[in-house]
Amino acid sequence: MSVKIVSLLMPVTSMTRIRRSGISPLHLAAERNKDDVLELLIEAGYDVNATLSHDRSMMYEDRRSTALYFAVINNNTNATEMLLEAGANPNLDTFSPLLLAIRQGCIKTVTLLVEHGANVNAYIPTHPTTFPATVMFCMRYLSLLKYLLDNGCDAMACLQCQYGSNPHPPIMTTRNRSNLDDRTDEPPKVPVQFCEMISAPINSRWAGPIIDVLLDYVGNVQLCSRLIEHLDSYEDWAAIKEKLEPPRPLMQLCRMRICSLVGRRRTRLHTLPLPGRLIKYLNHEERRKNDYC
Ligand SMILES: *[C@@H]1O[C@H](CO)[C@@H](O)[C@H](O)[C@H]1NC(C)=O
Ligand SMILES: *[C@@H]1O[C@H](CO)[C@@H](O)[C@H](O)[C@H]1NC(C)=O
Ligand SMILES: *[C@@H]1O[C@H](CO)[C@@H](O)[C@H](O)[C@H]1NC(C)=O
Ligand SMILES: *[C@@H]1O[C@H](CO)[C@@H](O)[C@H](O)[C@H]1NC(C)=O
Repeated sequence: MSVKIVSLLMPVTSMTRIRRSGISPLHLAAERNKDDVLELLIEAGYDVNATLSHDRSMMYEDRRSTALYFAVINNNTNATEMLLEAGANPNLDTFSPLLLAIRQGCIKTVTLLVEHGANVNAYIPTHPTTFPATVMFCMRYLSLLKYLLDNGCDAMACLQCQYGSNPHPPIMTTRNRSNLDDRTDEPPKVPVQFCEMISAPINSRWAGPIIDVLLDYVGNVQLCSRLIEHLDSYEDWAAIKEKLEPPRPLMQLCRMRICSLVGRRRTRLHTLPLPGRLIKYLNHEERRKNDYC
């Protein structure tokens, strides 16, 4: 039904008029999950990168601007795929659609976005962190975290801390933080570090396995006293601490070097003239069996 109406309207409207309206029909089709209309509009050549006007974007708390954002927030993989295939840019919104997809735990959408160039090291301008915000949303999805790390997510940024082995200031509870926000009505200015985020009560039970995964993606590193405290808090995590003993194994250092030379396109690893087991190791597939997820 709506396809018919839209196809009747298309010839009698003009692109200029649409542009002036501050919203494109693609946005409306994506917002309302009208996949068939979306397909029609894409085929008719509507700009998949069209953004909402500033005023319209400000009507949303998340300042969304693209049709892709609407598709992803609706968990609509079909619409997401159509837009990306048509060349939609996944890095135009303030809050990256990739962060949304990770938060929703939708592997299919995450994969689509990353394969089409979504920035795996996305940050949130209003909530500064010293590590990629993508990591923040992976706390309960270790396989997703590994996937992002395989695609160039910055593990080192997570393990660096301005306090190092010195004592850390007390952890801000959510209550303290929200009091602060209420009073000043603006986000905290000091960027949050990974060790602070992982210390939040809802996250700390995952600290060991997450640090363990991150360690596979860095060379020699010294963890800050807070991360060490986490590893000490649970005896099963002692093995993770052993992994840290410098120097890291030569195999790990070689893997780091080879992966950085190969770059983000991990599929290129398979074209190297190397035995299968070595390729598996380079792909971080050596411990799939006893993985945590
Ligand atoms: C997505 O929806 C469109 C329109 O309904 C349809 O033509 C297309 O086959 C669907 N694609 C997938 C991958 O389901
Ligand atoms: C999104 O879709 C996935 C898979 O189709 C599903 O597991 C998940 O619960 C959905 N999330 C939301 C927020 O609807
Ligand atoms: C959308 O933006 C991306 C990235 O800037 C660009 O590669 C692509 O060609 C654009 N697509 C269209 C249809 O303009
Ligand atoms: C946060 O609140 C707790 C309990 O009210 C208090 O003990 C602690 O000092 C507060 N921390 C900061 C940084 O204000």
